[in-house]
Amino acid sequence: MRMIKNLAIASALALSIPATAQKFEGLAMTPPMGWNSWNTFACDINETVVKETADLFIKLGLKDAGYEYIVIDDGWMEMERDPETLLLVPNKQKFPNGIKTVADYVHSKGLKFGIYNCAGTKTCGGYPGTRGYEYHDARQYAQWGVDFLKFDWCYTGSGNGGFNYQQDAPASYTLMRDAIYAAGRPMIFNICEWGDNKPWLWGANVGHMWRISGDIGHCWDCEMSFGTWSKFGLWPIINMHKDIRKYSGPGHWNDFDMLEVGNGFSPTENRTHFVMWCMLASPLMLGNDIRKMDEPTRQLVTNKEVIAIDQDKLGIQGFRFMNLDGFDIWVKPLDNNEWAFAFVNMTEQKRHLSYDWAKYYCKDGLVDREIQWGKQTFALRDLLAHKDAGDTSKPLDRDIEAHDVVVFRLKAK
Ligand code: GLA
Repeated sequence: MRMIKNLAIASALALSIPATAQKFEGLAMTPPMGWNSWNTFACDINETVVKETADLFIKLGLKDAGYEYIVIDDGWMEMERDPETLLLVPNKQKFPNGIKTVADYVHSKGLKFGIYNCAGTKTCGGYPGTRGYEYHDARQYAQWGVDFLKFDWCYTGSGNGGFNYQQDAPASYTLMRDAIYAAGRPMIFNICEWGDNKPWLWGANVGHMWRISGDIGHCWDCEMSFGTWSKFGLWPIINMHKDIRKYSGPGHWNDFDMLEVGNGFSPTENRTHFVMWCMLASPLMLGNDIRKMDEPTRQLVTNKEVIAIDQDKLGIQGFRFMNLDGFDIWVKPLDNNEWAFAFVNMTEQKRHLSYDWAKYYCKDGLVDREIQWGKQTFALRDLLAHKDAGDTSKPLDRDIEAHDVVVFRLKAK
């Protein structure tokens, strides 16, 4: 009898304890936008670069266009934790005034601040990882004023740092999520295990965005092998996983990796890269050296009409509608019954696009939306040119350079 009573009390207690283990909700209702140091600076990052980047976010109109997070990637630490406190130590040469000073500076510009670490015993660059120190590190980040944590997946195997088991990805990321929540400061949690453990299947309750691939490189269609790992060009990343668009949406995004726009692409490929990331509703984390950005690149990445495709509040990842005569045609359903259409010249030559809208019935089965061309005409807005461009009652006729793109917003007339 007493046992039954105790059980009843225990279960009542269990029910009354609030669920503390969760991610911070509402932080990424549209894909996060910002800048990350890795693609340009690798581990060679420092306080001056971060502060100058923050200044330029204001001066160059990046903040105004929606970019918000300034994220320091790998390389910010000393090689060992503090032997007494076991806390992570910012590198004394690179960050002589510590991390909080830098975070405060970024905040003083009305921006948000992010940092990097790894679920394993070391970061990919060989600096101290978080394995075994999750609550410790999360508390430290909260004290520094961190708003965004990118959490990587190197050194997670058995044998690393004396641990004799291979880490489980969902468990490891959930543990860090809980540590962030317990630390009490809302942070975007960027899961970065390169798509190896299908994070789209378990990530929505754990983080706000998850990488779907290995690292991006600035090439159109290549794979660069470095022995144990590879870098991927734009199209290998875009084509890597066929059926994951249904897992992406407000609060939890497929992350196609930081942008390589402005890092050596031709102007046409820069355009296509940027437009495609927007069509895919990917987070938009700039990866170039903002201090050296040329004017066409600045205009591209601050094009509010293109960014609005990425930031559309429905958060539906676009899909490849078809490949027609050398053009890849991508479609993204938008709020208010509008649509985005992007036409990419996949060939190596300039090519003429002649596209009769009414000829190709278009339906997005995922959200059960279709376009009835016979019943509706749509006004066309050319988003890269910032021009109205007629409507869908007439075929589209355009010359498009090799690897270039045109993108339209369609609005019912
Ligand atoms: C991994 C990540 C990169 C970057 C580096 C840092 O490769 O995928 O984006 O963070 O580690 O070492």
